[in-house]
Amino acid sequence: MKNAMLKHGWKFALVAGGAFVLVPMAVHGQYGLQTLDRLAMGTPQQIERGEQVFDDQCAECHGDEGVAPTEMGERMGAEGFVDTDVERSGPYSIFHVVTHGYEYNDEQHPAFENLRYQDRWAVAHYTNSLIADPQPDPDEIVAQVRREAQEGICDPDVREEVADFAEPEDDEQIQRGQDQFGQHCAACHGEDGRGITPDARDFHDDPDDWVHGTSPFGIFQTLDEGIPDTAMASFAHLPDEDLWAMVHFMRDELIPSDNLEEVTEEEIDAVCRALSAPEAPDPIAVDRAVQFLIDDADDERYRRLRGFGDPIVMEDANIDRGGELFQQSCASCHGADGSPETAIGPYGKFPPYLHIETGTMHPASAGGSYEDFAQRVVESVHASLPDRPTVATYSAQDWMDLQAWLITSTAEEDRIGYDRIRTVGDLQEAQQYLEADPALVDEDELDEDVDEDVDEEADDEEAEDQEDEEIEDQEDVDDEPQQQVDEQEVEDQQEMDDDED
Ligand code: HEC
Ligand code: HEC
Ligand code: HEC
Repeated sequence: MKNAMLKHGWKFALVAGGAFVLVPMAVHGQYGLQTLDRLAMGTPQQIERGEQVFDDQCAECHGDEGVAPTEMGERMGAEGFVDTDVERSGPYSIFHVVTHGYEYNDEQHPAFENLRYQDRWAVAHYTNSLIADPQPDPDEIVAQVRREAQEGICDPDVREEVADFAEPEDDEQIQRGQDQFGQHCAACHGEDGRGITPDARDFHDDPDDWVHGTSPFGIFQTLDEGIPDTAMASFAHLPDEDLWAMVHFMRDELIPSDNLEEVTEEEIDAVCRALSAPEAPDPIAVDRAVQFLIDDADDERYRRLRGFGDPIVMEDANIDRGGELFQQSCASCHGADGSPETAIGPYGKFPPYLHIETGTMHPASAGGSYEDFAQRVVESVHASLPDRPTVATYSAQDWMDLQAWLITSTAEEDRIGYDRIRTVGDLQEAQQYLEADPALVDEDELDEDVDEDVDEEADDEEAEDQEDEEIEDQEDVDDEPQQQVDEQEVEDQQEMDDDED
């Protein structure tokens, strides 16, 4: 079974990548670093999801909510995570434990390979959030997790088989290789491999001059793909057994032994990773899938909002005036209190019309100084809306007031960024704060915020409302890639308007 998979996989791996080092990227590319970074950040959504996973997978040993181990867990030496000293803490380390398990007291911690990748991250964040004082993740674990996410994991069984291909089997194999070579290759390369046709490779050439080299994998690649734009065609139509037989015949009989390149461990690893079963995505019901997408989009928005930096309000901002301005210019789309109820639009002349749902305003939406905020309102998605807010004539004072109102007025429970609002006397002071705390997310602070957010969410009785809100947030994030389309539509619309005039 496995062998069949391997045989089949060879072709796939070689064709997919072109070169061995590229193969795993092609096969495992589904988790780019960007995705990993996103997963590695504990957002409220992740932690909420992680709690469910913990209930299902970990509570049986580590106890309900990780407070104290169950009887069975205790017998095995498990502890809870609350108020205990945990060596393997930090989200990366816990992710590593969940994914690979680890050895302890001659026993093996279960590895949860069957869990979906996202869920393993989610449970890692949840578990980490239980630990009062998590240790930083050791660099080598971080590096390994990243490498595996990018390049895939090498299954030890597969590795053994891959390594076997690089070794000749027996005399019979060499004999078969010789027969095949005589039949398919000798006309150009000669029985002795010194080359008959003028440009055919002489197998005595220095391996550095070869395109794919003389290692078993290199020659196999030549036979499988051929050398483009030369008389050396692909022999992929022959069974893999025959190709391997020729590979070993050539290395055994035709290529001078000094010129034989050996397979490197890296090559074996790379091929192994490409052939190891990829982390199969479980089929899940559509409504769950949609929920995952929503959560992801939510995470994305959370990260983006935090990226604006702390909201910095000016001392002399007039909140009431800001409120009036908001009602005049913004409420038509963003709702009277910044939590919209309807989608705006339709935009465009022809169906399908475009409708946009604005997301709930959080204090973090007005993050940064009032100048940053003003710039975003003028230049962001607004710039591509036909009925864009009439903000061109706003003064600095107007923006200060608007920002102050937005930050303090939000009625939402979950007020992202509320805890980080700072009040300052002048722009220079604001600038200092922003420079001290660059727009990038500070992980430690973030973790604290996340805990708070989760507490708040736990208090939230109206789970349904929250779901609605998540859907709005999803739309919000979706707007970004749509922006180009928006612009196009706006242009079209303007042209049309001109025509009508
Ligand atoms: C079958 C029982 C069992 C299950 C299920 C289980 N664990 Fe464990 N876990 C243990 C035992 C036993 C230990 C303690 C081993 C030791 O370090 O002595 C442990 C230790 C750990 C540690 C390391 C603690 C330290 O001090 O370094 C982490 C992290 C961990 N488990 C996370 C999880 C997570 C997350 C899950 C669920 C996805 C899980 N475990 C499920 C039994 C279990
Ligand atoms: C039609 C003529 C022709 C036939 C048939 C042919 N080859 Fe070649 N082969 C070439 C030529 C030409 C090159 C040189 C390509 C180049 O310029 O790199 C070559 C190159 C090679 C190389 C060197 C690849 C490298 O890394 O540079 C190997 C190995 C090889 N052939 C093996 C075979 C084997 C095995 C067969 C039979 C299955 C075969 N060839 C059949 C023409 C042929
Ligand atoms: C014509 C409709 C419309 C008007 C009027 C409007 N906006 Fe927007 N605004 C949008 C849309 C659409 C988005 C993008 C979706 C989103 O992020 O909610 C947006 C996004 C924003 C964002 C970014 C929120 C985030 O999550 O990054 C801020 C801040 C904002 N608007 C502030 C304002 C302010 C302040 C005004 C009034 C001066 C205003 N908007 C007027 C439609 C409008």
